[in-house]
Amino acid sequence: MHNFHYKNGKLFCESIAVESLAQQAGTPLYIYSQKTLVDNIRRLETAMAPVNPHLCYAVKANASLGILSLMAQLGIGFDVVSIGELKKVKQAGGKTEQCVFAGVGKTEEEINAALELGIYAFNVESIPELERINRLAKKQNKKAPVAIRVNPNVDAKTHAKITTGTYENKFGIAFEEVISLYQKAHSKYKNLHLKGVQIHIGSQLTNVAPFAKAVKKMAPLVTLLRAEYGLEFFSIGGGLGIVYKQALESGSASWWHNEGKNFASPEKLAKALIPLLKPLTTSGVKVLMEPGRFVVGNAGILVTRVEYIKQTGKKNFVIVDAAMNDLIRPALYESYHQIVPLKKSRTEKTFKADVVGPICESGDRFCLNREISEVKEGDLLAIMSAGAYGMTMASNYNGRSIPAEVLVNDKEADYLRIRESIQTSWRYEGIPAWLIPEEKTLPPNKKTRTPRKKIENI
Ligand code: LLP
Repeated sequence: MHNFHYKNGKLFCESIAVESLAQQAGTPLYIYSQKTLVDNIRRLETAMAPVNPHLCYAVKANASLGILSLMAQLGIGFDVVSIGELKKVKQAGGKTEQCVFAGVGKTEEEINAALELGIYAFNVESIPELERINRLAKKQNKKAPVAIRVNPNVDAKTHAKITTGTYENKFGIAFEEVISLYQKAHSKYKNLHLKGVQIHIGSQLTNVAPFAKAVKKMAPLVTLLRAEYGLEFFSIGGGLGIVYKQALESGSASWWHNEGKNFASPEKLAKALIPLLKPLTTSGVKVLMEPGRFVVGNAGILVTRVEYIKQTGKKNFVIVDAAMNDLIRPALYESYHQIVPLKKSRTEKTFKADVVGPICESGDRFCLNREISEVKEGDLLAIMSAGAYGMTMASNYNGRSIPAEVLVNDKEADYLRIRESIQTSWRYEGIPAWLIPEEKTLPPNKKTRTPRKKIENI
């Protein structure tokens, strides 16, 4: 559910007309609703309350400092995948000891830094990684808290690029190998504190059945590891899907618009998982969840301006000022995002069009042959459900700047991020000395315009 809806034909975010924000902050512009963010967290906590889950927000979904700060103030933890994310959480006021650190390629530098900062657990994805963490913890004279990420070999039935829980994927340690690995780690790796197990089978799961299948498979393993090694927690990962097609009329009852009755929700997830998890929590196991998309996905939109309407004889193209560099999901996963006008036309006429960006690739489009509201040059459109994996995947491709972001809290709004000036995107670049004409003629001690770091002669 979210807090974007029409009032008298104008799209509002909470109590603010989206158009007024776009006029002040320009476009492309990400806008988020704080109420939606908070409601989503509370909804998940309430549904899963019988097992009292500890939520670790998946930072990769949206890493805006302001949003991380909100999450920290709500008292939840974080799921990070790099030292960059961990440091940003700290900067935002989050507690590093409430962070789990995932990812298949943690570097020595990252492990050392995480050990120094003190995290809740590393979610370990391979045997060499386990060995590396043990070795580095020994050097720091510490016991590193670890959980084994288990690959349960359960198909999440989602898009191939975001399926992570089968043996075709690079993630985790095969289910069958976990007991022997735990045994080995327990006897051999003295600088590890074996704390938990974790799974994450994929993202945007639209049905809860694969979650239930994976948790059911894991439950006996968790019980055994608890009895043998005092395992403390079981993280069931993230992955809860969101509805990408929703009715936007206030008071509309048809929230499940177009997505069918079986669509996953926190309540359905709870119904399926609580009977499986309850016996574990009763025996003292703590349940962790790592939601990302569910928290921020529907809490954010991308506002864009129509630059041109181009008719080719065969098709209509609505060319907008947002592009795949701002929101790559449609180009990368053929994902669906609703596209709606900020101001409804009185006639409510529609036409069939591709909404495309200005980037020089045919994949730079937000929809294909879709019936959308009739629009004209200068109109503003909202690309809905863009809060997750939108801004975090933005780039400077085609020399474009990263968009601005605004957070709305009822009647107030403020920047989470101002629009990047394009010069800042090349601030770490330099021109090699030999390509700068005057550098060639200067004696070595006078060369001032070389890049700040030099490569030594090889
Ligand atoms: N935990 C782990 C270990 C993960 O790898 C992920 C997401 C999550 C939690 C959070 O999953 P969520 O609740 O957001 O589904 N860029 C893609 C999604 C990539 C997901 C990667 N891992 C997209 O735009 O659909």
